[in-house]
Amino acid sequence: MNFQLSEEQLAVQAAARDFAKNELLPGVIERDEHQKFPAEQIKKLGELGFMGMMVDPKYGGSGMDAVSYVLAMEEISKIDASVSVCMSVNNSLVCWGLETYGNEEQKQKYLTELASGQAIGAFLLSEPEAGSDATSQRTTAEDMGDYYLLNGTKNWITNGSSASYYLVIAQTYPEKGHRGINALIVHKDWPGVTVGAKENKMGIRGSDTHSIMFQDVKVPKANRIGEDGFGFKFAMKTLAGGRIGIASQALGIASGAYELALKYSKERKAFGTEIMNHQAVAFKLADMATAIEGARLLCLKAAWLKDQHEDFERAAAMAKLYASEIAQWVTNEAVQVHGGYGYVKEFHVERLMRDAKITQIYEGTSEVQKIVISRSVLRD
Ligand code: CAA
Repeated sequence: MNFQLSEEQLAVQAAARDFAKNELLPGVIERDEHQKFPAEQIKKLGELGFMGMMVDPKYGGSGMDAVSYVLAMEEISKIDASVSVCMSVNNSLVCWGLETYGNEEQKQKYLTELASGQAIGAFLLSEPEAGSDATSQRTTAEDMGDYYLLNGTKNWITNGSSASYYLVIAQTYPEKGHRGINALIVHKDWPGVTVGAKENKMGIRGSDTHSIMFQDVKVPKANRIGEDGFGFKFAMKTLAGGRIGIASQALGIASGAYELALKYSKERKAFGTEIMNHQAVAFKLADMATAIEGARLLCLKAAWLKDQHEDFERAAAMAKLYASEIAQWVTNEAVQVHGGYGYVKEFHVERLMRDAKITQIYEGTSEVQKIVISRSVLRD
């Protein structure tokens, strides 16, 4: 077993680290405070090749492996999880889904723009009454011959207002249940598409989360991804890869908070010595470092399996479950190490603590990951 990263992987990691430090750290507190979408930063990330990292260069991507994607996601998330969620959705849900299941025409028309960062995409599955219970889709895509008529509302959509293209999951044959669902490529600027108000969130406040409404939107049949009725499987397959992205985001949030706590513990003095010399703090750091290493190994293993074209779905769910749970705990401990300073914005850890919470919820809650993992282990 070889745990060594290649030179190329190390270079990607270093580039992401530099970008996060130089381009994301300045202004991260203000963007969080004012819920400002990091449009300029995302554009630069696209120019560096981070918005379509695993996509074939012939479709505008960077042709990197999933391990590099984990490394980059971790570095970006250490500093700004609002940027990394946009990056994760575009890379794993939108670009991967299109590259894997889209036809040549769809790849030429949409993937090239999305993978090169010239446009941003969004993934529209969740609805007001269909979150974890994703088969209960109420949005309809009625078959009208050469087009679908799309009606309904999607909720909690990351990149909701900044995306140019939406991958929309909708019900065409309600009598067939999940086998009657389709996945459609929809342009945000088409008639009948309305972007709802921006959600005022606890964390990842720089990201733009909206509900999206569709009223009699005409979607050409050519914009359906895969066979008729493939939409739910498309969503499930795509989400499995997405979970590696969000697991890596949780890992980055945790390791960002840990690094700040470690640094602070070497500077701050109490009772006549740096607080790192107090076992109460040193043991916290030991526990945090151990949990982070565990999460990192799970993320890298899931990514490695994906790179080997092996089944990675159980590993991705385990990585997502574990990394998001420890992110919640590690960030809380990081605030505790900082004491009162941890509770104010300038020290960053309170933001990381707020950002960590969503990783236990989106792209499948921790409870959904346990459904996926338990079903998988029971098949052993
Ligand atoms: N790959 C392929 N097919 C799959 C699959 C997978 N990983 N998982 C399920 N399926 C198929 C099943 O085989 C079944 O099809 P057949 O009947 O033809 O065999 C069908 O899908 C239904 O599967 P289940 O019976 O297992 O469905 P279920 O109702 O029990 O639900 C679930 C399973 C795992 C809970 C699923 O509903 C789920 O993943 N829910 C969570 C949804 C989610 O993650 N939402 C996140 C929104 S996106 C987001 O957050 C992005 C963002 O903005 C950051």
